Amino acid sequence: MTALLERLGLAGLHKIDPEAAHGLAIRALQMGLTPTPGPVTSPRLKTTLAGLDLPNPVGLAAGFDKNATAIAPLSRAGFGFIEVGAATPLPQPGNPKPRLFRLTEDRAAINRFGFNNEGMEAITARLARRGAGVPVGLNLGANKTSTDRAADFAKVMTVARDHVDFATVNVSSPNTEKLRDLQGKAALAALLDGVMDVRGATPVFLKIAPDLTPDEIEDVADVANSAGVAAIIATNTTLGRGGLKSSHKGEAGGLSGAPLFDKSTRVLARLSTMTDIPLVGVGGIATAEHAYAKIRAGASAVQLYTALVYGGLSMVSDIATGLDGLLARDGFATVADAVGTNKEDWL
Ligand SMILES: Cc1cc2nc3c(=O)[nH]c(=O)nc-3n(C[C@H](O)[C@H](O)[C@H](O)COP(=O)(O)O)c2cc1C
Repeated sequence: MTALLERLGLAGLHKIDPEAAHGLAIRALQMGLTPTPGPVTSPRLKTTLAGLDLPNPVGLAAGFDKNATAIAPLSRAGFGFIEVGAATPLPQPGNPKPRLFRLTEDRAAINRFGFNNEGMEAITARLARRGAGVPVGLNLGANKTSTDRAADFAKVMTVARDHVDFATVNVSSPNTEKLRDLQGKAALAALLDGVMDVRGATPVFLKIAPDLTPDEIEDVADVANSAGVAAIIATNTTLGRGGLKSSHKGEAGGLSGAPLFDKSTRVLARLSTMTDIPLVGVGGIATAEHAYAKIRAGASAVQLYTALVYGGLSMVSDIATGLDGLLARDGFATVADAVGTNKEDWL
């Protein structure tokens, strides 16, 4: 019954503007109209990521719950961990609408939101009020008009650090002009130092773009190693547009979903040969097989977003349960045992 309702709901949502549909999906979550099986777990799925205990390794990627208004229902949707945000120091409206496009034939999306959010104070207040649940991280961003973007990351970290289980330095969004320049070696080292100085005991994750060259990936790994980053999330959305069919393929912004799977998995596998920092694999996951492939390519945990637009939240528990079956099939006693066991295929 729930699955049928979800199908009808998704069909309806796909008839309206994607950003309005997203708003309705968040409302439905807040009203308890979405599947809430609780975190899926098993001895095989239980794992740790940068010291955090996860009931399963399937997480919600940043950008779905930008303002942290649906943490409680998302905690019960089957995910092993969730990431909210991005939060910037000051509230900001983001780019003009329309700024989110469905590429249905490609099982993909293009967004150019540009960090629309209610700002770190409002978001941190919600994080501080949240009850028990799966680990929750905050994606850190910089204001568009800031004169010192690197300092913005440290500002959000300072305010939020005692209310989150991890915080992610996101220098990989393509929708804030010049933000990605902060991935360069010297700029990234300085930015991370600033964030590490104020992090208290909160683990700092770093999220990177899929469009980095192998040399740039190596630079990022070097800087992350020396800075003491606790995990690297690979990857954000791509500026690439290869092989798309949908009429929206020419829209500016970051592409996510199925067409990002291979590219992001290659970056993940490459990174896993350059660092022992735990990795989180993101990009194009829509099935248990995809999640398993990312784990075997080097990810200790995974995240997803775009597939939810097409499959609904019930896919989360399907992916986690399916992953448990795949691990069992191949004789792995735990997720951790499978990490990186097939990275060669992606190098
Ligand atoms: C509408 C939308 C908004 C996003 N906002 C953020 C964001 O604020 N911060 C961030 O690090 N990533 C953001 N992302 C990127 C996702 O977290 C994820 O890295 C990317 O979409 C690839 O995963 P997917 O193919 O499962 O969607 C956003 C993605 C989408 C589709």
